[in-house]
Amino acid sequence: MMDIFEQVNAVIAEMEAAAPDSKAALEQFRIRYLGTKNIIKPLFAEIGKVPVERKKAFGQLVNAAKIAAETKFATLQAALETASEVETTRIDLTAPPIGLPVGSRHPVSIVMNRIVDIFRRIGYTVAEEREIEDDWHNFTAMNTPPDHPARDMQDTFYLKNSTEMLLRTHTSSVQARTMTRQKPPIRIIAPGRVYRNETISARSHCQFHQVEGLYIDENVSFADLKQTLLYFAKEMYGATKIRLRPSFFPFTEPSAEMDVYWGLKNETDHRITKGTGWLEILGCGMVDPQVLENCGIDSEKYSGFAFGMGIERQAMLQYGISDIRLLFENDTRFLKQFAAAL
Ligand code: PHE
Repeated sequence: MMDIFEQVNAVIAEMEAAAPDSKAALEQFRIRYLGTKNIIKPLFAEIGKVPVERKKAFGQLVNAAKIAAETKFATLQAALETASEVETTRIDLTAPPIGLPVGSRHPVSIVMNRIVDIFRRIGYTVAEEREIEDDWHNFTAMNTPPDHPARDMQDTFYLKNSTEMLLRTHTSSVQARTMTRQKPPIRIIAPGRVYRNETISARSHCQFHQVEGLYIDENVSFADLKQTLLYFAKEMYGATKIRLRPSFFPFTEPSAEMDVYWGLKNETDHRITKGTGWLEILGCGMVDPQVLENCGIDSEKYSGFAFGMGIERQAMLQYGISDIRLLFENDTRFLKQFAAAL
């Protein structure tokens, strides 16, 4: 029969070899070594039977077995708890991703980019400038006299306590910025946002976008302007005809407004051409020699043309949008309809 000391050592060895790796296995371990009917308990009862001279040593051994079981249990329990915490916070790399909503280009950007591209193809470069502008670049350089109604506080947003700084009312300010900086030949296309103090309605807004074009060189004529605009109308609208109507702008002379022939057949909505078949697209003209001089360009040597067009109305026309406000609300339900138009 196994010596009583050997029995205790066997229990200790068995306990130390045990490697419970789950909560259930750990519970088995606890029941076996620390439960009410654990296997160490009967060994304490043996103390009485051990000869006197070995009693103390035997008692210490059984006690050590019990402490070893308790320590091991505590360590295993702590290890399993941290393991299960890691389990719950671990990233599952095989899980399907949560779909991130992908934005789409704004209809105003789509139309603006198309216009810019059409002019880039014939050698225009993009010029972008500030939206907070000074009076000189927006008005004075552009030949707009101080008593001109456009300067009225009713039409222009001035910066607080300023008669000098304003939100540009047209991209024509980019003409002045470019001409004072760069010598001809100049051929730029300038897209951007402009501001006017207007009541917001379905048809007008206090902010909108324009694309400005400017071409300055020797011997630039009105015929060049007309051909450039015809090319644009064909590319943009597939139009076969354009019409130039005399108009007035302080910074061009002569000035005109260009209409594109849209036709009556296409006109399901009679507001589009008001029954005329012609669509008004842009303002244009030969750059007034005074504007060239204001910007330090010799008007005896150089001439040029400029044009400017609003974008929102073209986008509304193209996509059948009836209210301009929709373009500024950033409602994704509205905007995502243009994803396919990218
Ligand atoms: N700046 C003018 C506008 O805002 C448009 C324009 C630009 C006209 C260039 C002529 C030449 O209405």
